[in-house]
Amino acid sequence: MSTVTEHSTYNYKVVRQFAIMTVIWGIVGMTIGVFIASQLVWPQLNFDIPWLTFGRLRPLHTNAVIFAFGGCALFATSYYVVQRTCQVRLVSDALAAFTFWGWQAVIVATVITLPLGLTSTKEYAEVEWPIDIMITIVWVCYAIVFLGTVKHRKTPHIYVGNWFYMAFIITIAVLHIVNSAALPVSAFKSYSIYAGTVDAMVQWWYGHNAVGFFLTAGFLGMMYYFVPKQAQRPIYSYRLSIVHFWALIATYMWAGGHHLHYTALPDWAQSVAMVMSLILLAPSWGGMINGMMTLSGAWHKLRTDPILRFLVVSLSFYGMSTFEGPMMAIKTVNALSHYTDWTIGHVHAGALGWVAMISIGATYHMIPRLWGKASMASVALINTHFWLATIGTVLYICAMWVNGILQGLMWRAVNEDGTLTYSFVEALEASHMGYFVRALGGVFWVTGMLLMAYNVWQTVRRNSSVSVVDAAAQAT
Ligand code: HEM
Ligand code: HEM
Repeated sequence: MSTVTEHSTYNYKVVRQFAIMTVIWGIVGMTIGVFIASQLVWPQLNFDIPWLTFGRLRPLHTNAVIFAFGGCALFATSYYVVQRTCQVRLVSDALAAFTFWGWQAVIVATVITLPLGLTSTKEYAEVEWPIDIMITIVWVCYAIVFLGTVKHRKTPHIYVGNWFYMAFIITIAVLHIVNSAALPVSAFKSYSIYAGTVDAMVQWWYGHNAVGFFLTAGFLGMMYYFVPKQAQRPIYSYRLSIVHFWALIATYMWAGGHHLHYTALPDWAQSVAMVMSLILLAPSWGGMINGMMTLSGAWHKLRTDPILRFLVVSLSFYGMSTFEGPMMAIKTVNALSHYTDWTIGHVHAGALGWVAMISIGATYHMIPRLWGKASMASVALINTHFWLATIGTVLYICAMWVNGILQGLMWRAVNEDGTLTYSFVEALEASHMGYFVRALGGVFWVTGMLLMAYNVWQTVRRNSSVSVVDAAAQAT
C-alpha cells in the first residue's frame, strides 16, 4: 500500500501523538531516574525539600517510565499494528483520541500528586483512588477501540502480535481493578480493602503480572510485528508463537508469590511460586528464540541496520532477564538477593535492556512511515543512540550485580561469637562506587534519548516525502 492510501485509510494521528509522547516521557522518566540514582551517590541532592526527596521521586520514576514511557509506546504500537495487520481503520477516531488525552491526563495527575506525598503506598499502583478511576475509564475505552478494531478486521485470522496485545489489555484491566479496590476516606486518601498477608498477596499477584502483562506481553506483541518487519523475514515459527502465547499466559499468573519468600505467606504458596517461576523460563525462551531465529538468513543486516540492532539486543536482554528471574525465584538464591541491588539490576536488565530497547527500535521503525518520509533523518545518530543505550545498560546492571552480591554477603556474614561482621553503614559505603557507575549508565541513556528526540524532530520537519514502499524498494 503506498503511503498516500495508507495515510487516508488508517488513523495515524493518534499513533503519531503517542509515538512523540513515548520519546518525551522517556526523557522525563529517565532523567528522574538519573536524579534519584545521583541522590544515592550524593544524598545532599535531596535538598531537604520534601517533594524532592528520594522517597517521593522514586515512585514518580517508576510510574513515569512504566506507565508514561512504556504505556505510550504500547498505545502507539498497538494502534499501528492492529490497523495494519487487520487492514482496517481503528473502530472509533473519537474514542482513540479520548484514550490519548485521557492517558496524558492520568500521567499529569500522577506527576503532580506523587511528589506531594499523596500515595496509596502500593508499589506500581501508588496513585490515589480518583486517578485509579480515571485509569479504569481510559483503559475500558482502549479495550473497546482495540478489540472493536480486531472484530472488524478484513483478514481471516488474528495475527499473533494482536493476541499478545489483547492479553495485555484484558489482564491489566483485571489486575488494576482488583488490586486498587479501596475505601476512600477523603478526596486524596483511601485504604486497601484487603488486610495483612492477603493484601501482600494481592499486591504481588498484581505486581508480578504487571511485569508479565504490561512489561512483557504487550512488548512481545511489539516483537512479533516489528522484528519480522524490520528484518523483512517471516516470523520463524507461527506454531511456536501459539505455544509461546498460551504457555506464557497460563504460567505467569502463579509466580507472584516469589516476591514474598520467607514472609507470612504460607510456605506452600511460596513453593508453588518458585516452581512456576522456574517453568516460566521455557515459554519466555520460546518467545526469545522465535524472535531471534526470525533473523536466520538476515543476520548480515545487523551490520548496516541499527534499528534491527535495537530489536535483536532487546531480545538478548529479554532472554537474560528471564533466565535471571527464575534463578532469583529459587528460595535459597532469593535469601541472598532479596532487599539488595541485585533485584534493581534484574529490574533494569528487563526495563532498559528489553522494554526500552524494543520500544525505541519500534519507534524508529514507525516514525518515518507515520510522517511519510523515506527514512529517519540520520542513521548515524540511531547507531550512536544504540551504543549509548547498550553501554548504559551494561554499566547499570553490572554495577548492581556487584553491589547486590556484595550487600547480600556482607549482611549475612557473622563472627564466631554470632555477632554481625559488618554494620549496615559499612555495606552502604562499599556500595558507593556501584551507585556512581549506575548513575553514569543512566547519563548514557538520557544522552541517547536526547539524540533520539533531535533525530525525530529532524525527520518530522523534513520537506521530502517519499512512499515507504518506494524507499524500501530503493534500500534493497
Ligand atoms: C536512565 C535510566 C534509568 C535510571 C538511571 C534508573 C534509576 C533507578 C533508580 C536509582 C531506582 C531506585 C533503586 C533503588 O531503590 O535502590 C530505580 C527503580 C526502578 N526503575 Fe529505574 N532507572 C532508569 C530507567 C528505567 C526504565 C526505562 C524503567 C522501566 C521501563 C525503570 C523501571 C524501574 C523500576 C520498576 C524500579 C523499581 C525497582 C524495584 O522496586 O525493585 N527504570 N530506577
Ligand atoms: C521468567 C521471567 C521472570 C521471573 C521468573 C522473574 C522473577 C523475579 C524475582 C524472583 C524477583 C525478585 C523478587 C524479590 O526478591 O523481591 C523479581 C523482581 C522483579 N522483576 Fe522479575 N522476573 C522475570 C522477568 C522479568 C522481566 C522481563 C522484567 C521487566 C521487564 C522483570 C521485572 C521485575 C521487577 C520490576 C521486579 C522488582 C519488583 C519489586 O520488588 O518492586 N522481571 N523478578
